[in-house]
Amino acid sequence: MVSKVISYATLGIDGVKVVVEVDSSRGLPSVAIVGLPDSAVKESKERVRAAVVNSGFPFPLRKIVVNLAPADLRKEGTVYDLPIALGILASSGILSGEKLGNYIIAGELGLGGELHPVKGVLPAAVLVKELSLKGLIIPEDNVEEALLIEGIDVIPVKSLKEAVNFLNGEVEIEPAKGSSLPSNPSYSVDMADVVGQFQAKRALEIAAAGRHNVFMVGPPGSGKTMLARRLPTIMPPMSLEEVIETSRVYSVAGLTSEVPVVQRPFRAPHSTSSDAAIIGGGNAVKPGEVSLAHNGVLFMDEFPEFKRSVLEALRQPLEDRVVTVSRASGSYTFPADFLLVAASNPCPCGFYGFSDGKNYCRCSPVQIKRYQAKLSGPIMDRIDLKVSVPAVKPEEFKDSKSEPSERIRERVIKAYEIQKRRFKGLRISFNGQMGRRVIKKFCKLDFEAEELLNRAVSSLGLSARAYDRVLKVARTIADLESSDLISFHHIAEALSYREV
Ligand SMILES: Nc1ncnc2c1ncn2[C@@H]1O[C@H](COP(=O)(O)OP(=O)(O)O)[C@@H](O)[C@H]1O
Ligand SMILES: [Mg+2]
Repeated sequence: MVSKVISYATLGIDGVKVVVEVDSSRGLPSVAIVGLPDSAVKESKERVRAAVVNSGFPFPLRKIVVNLAPADLRKEGTVYDLPIALGILASSGILSGEKLGNYIIAGELGLGGELHPVKGVLPAAVLVKELSLKGLIIPEDNVEEALLIEGIDVIPVKSLKEAVNFLNGEVEIEPAKGSSLPSNPSYSVDMADVVGQFQAKRALEIAAAGRHNVFMVGPPGSGKTMLARRLPTIMPPMSLEEVIETSRVYSVAGLTSEVPVVQRPFRAPHSTSSDAAIIGGGNAVKPGEVSLAHNGVLFMDEFPEFKRSVLEALRQPLEDRVVTVSRASGSYTFPADFLLVAASNPCPCGFYGFSDGKNYCRCSPVQIKRYQAKLSGPIMDRIDLKVSVPAVKPEEFKDSKSEPSERIRERVIKAYEIQKRRFKGLRISFNGQMGRRVIKKFCKLDFEAEELLNRAVSSLGLSARAYDRVLKVARTIADLESSDLISFHHIAEALSYREV
């Protein structure tokens, strides 16, 4: 007899239907799994056998073939333990197959029959809706993420036995109830914690408002990391759509405990990270840091220390806001729309141009040149705001007053709304994403602004790209003042973020 259980695989952040077919026939007792399983799936049969027996069910002494269809799609991980166990029990008549067709089922089995969480449940929940099925049967620890999708029954189960009893109609399990998302998540840090650094904070406000990438240069200990960490706190709260999209990335990455992601992500990978860790990929294709930072901030401290290959590979997501990883098994697309904050010392010792009277730069001109050479090129072209972050003087720490994140965020939200109206119907949403033609259309300068910019072009020798960056930043500065026209002081400020 052939039984069928519905489960899923993930492609990027999308769920794809997988049918677990189990045939049991007379013959030498054995279990074979076919249909492009990886090694974790192959090992499934040992876990399944133990779980079935230890849950008090007889393991059929028959020749069992498990087929994961479609056969040309690679199956990874431990998702299929529960579907395979249920399929075996259904094929031997212990489980009635009646309800099986209504649910997508997934879960990793322990040897005692208990269930452990699996990756990709949120994409599976989306798939339930697309296929017009009734719901999901999943391990309890995956429930939170599945609840992000409304209108489906999420049935949490603790063990194989409980799943069998539910499907046989012997016990009722209430579908889990939706969790309400906080509309304004609270952060444990705040911009008000940062003393002084008005220029850097202002640059971050502009960055948050127009989604401009930022580069901070300063000596060690000047507060670059502290500032970057607080950037998510001045960005608008995530929309439900953003929460779901970012959560899908975390679900696929197996970071179940962080789902739902309601705070804008802040990711700070170390400079020794591999290409796969940053961009995504690896043998079992996983989202990288650029995708884990989706809708949030990617902080790359000690930017020149990152591998050249990493810096080069960053170009594609910065350009396209998605990453595409190609494998023999297919190509995978992950979202990667992040705000890049890069930080660096000015030189290897950290004090070139930032001497504080006690520390002086000890690097040779060659060392300085080599260090700074790493900071040129195509990535720098994608960074609109460059700001220097000198150390705060001790006297500034006395009776300092700083604006809280909430107030800055209110201005940022206003600028977001202006941009939403501006870019309606276009494929971009923020000033930082404008290309040549769009810049021409939306950046109207008054006479003095035009004159200033022309003078800057001739005296500073601005390249075409640098010119565009100044206009984009000036657009955001004007938006923060709800000004339609770009004026002199908007261009003047934008020019100040040109170089460090
Ligand atoms: N402007 C500031 N306001 C308050 N604390 C600061 C400031 N700058 C530095 N600090 C303190 O110094 C520590 C080191 O700062 P950090 O952000 O790590 O510097 P950097 O990343 O530039 O090396 C911070 O954790 C904080 O305690
Ligand atoms: Mg730091």
